[in-house]
Amino acid sequence: MTFEEARALFPVLERIAYLNAGTFGPLARPVADALAAGLERDLYEGRSGRPYFEATMELRDELRGALADLVGAERDQVALTSSTTDACGIVLRGLELAPGDEIVTTTDEHFGLLGPLGASPADVVVAAPDPDAILAAVTPRTRLIATSQVLWTTGATLPLAELRAATGVPVLADGAQSVGAVPATVDGLDFLTVSGQKWLCGPDSTGALVIADPERLRLVSPSFLAQRRHEPDGAYEPTPGARRFEPGWWSQGALRALLAALELRPTWWHERAAAAAERCRALLGTLVELVVPETPSTLVAFRVEDDPVAVVARLHEADVHVREIPGRGLVRVSCGWWTSDEDLERLAATLH
Ligand SMILES: Cc1ncc(COP(=O)(O)O)c(C=O)c1O
Repeated sequence: MTFEEARALFPVLERIAYLNAGTFGPLARPVADALAAGLERDLYEGRSGRPYFEATMELRDELRGALADLVGAERDQVALTSSTTDACGIVLRGLELAPGDEIVTTTDEHFGLLGPLGASPADVVVAAPDPDAILAAVTPRTRLIATSQVLWTTGATLPLAELRAATGVPVLADGAQSVGAVPATVDGLDFLTVSGQKWLCGPDSTGALVIADPERLRLVSPSFLAQRRHEPDGAYEPTPGARRFEPGWWSQGALRALLAALELRPTWWHERAAAAAERCRALLGTLVELVVPETPSTLVAFRVEDDPVAVVARLHEADVHVREIPGRGLVRVSCGWWTSDEDLERLAATLH
């Protein structure tokens, strides 16, 4: 697939410099077609009968396999969820933390992780988002290190597998800004979350939780999908592997749409996305104050003197879509494998 062919998959790119995959990725025609076909099928064939149920279960399994391949996991280490937030909640509840336990996180986490951390009975220790500060915050009471692989604020990448190896403390990696953006894997980690709607360009309300050892996490909120059979008193035989943690049903359209999205990525996705981010930094470097992390990613953040909300709104009116980071005075640009030089030049010209 050439770059021009890849871009032509995304109708939104014809008009808009769409630079906000960190919130929602652009939708591609095959993804929308898969969603629509699923809905049509349900409309005319109904949503019942053994073939319908079995086909849905097979699609779920195929999707777990595709997501496992994406992040270097086994199929039975993957649970489908509706989001990263959902996945973080499953981990935090399942670890059965108690008052006096500690979780180390950073100052730069999204509420999708912070919410579940704050709801746990453990003490949350907040460190600066750099490896030394995280290491220094770990004590004998630390039960979990929970941070992003790529920070949603500055785009900095954290070496989470190295932190795991250095401390021996289990790591929950928030993969919302890494999976699909950079070559993110679950290697050396305990838990990795996936947001389907962001860099993977999948449909809304899709995601996953990858669990290195599903047997060691307690299932606290079982859904119908958690069991193979159950008793009148609610006792049940769990489904094997991580899928017991799956919170709910997905339509066949949504399953097919995320599968279609996973098949979109060209072999050169990573190089192209990294180069687009580099180009973005080069173009903006003379115009604004860039935040350049030591280990950058596909997110590019810069400071503005005006209200960032107003800057983002002005860019939006000019069909350039980016977002602000609340409370930081930052505007954030997401560069994907579909991002063209023209998109970035439009951003620079509109900022000027
Ligand atoms: C780092 C990070 N974590 C979590 C989330 C929430 O993701 P989701 O909507 O999939 O729960 C976001 C969303 O922007 C994010 O940037």
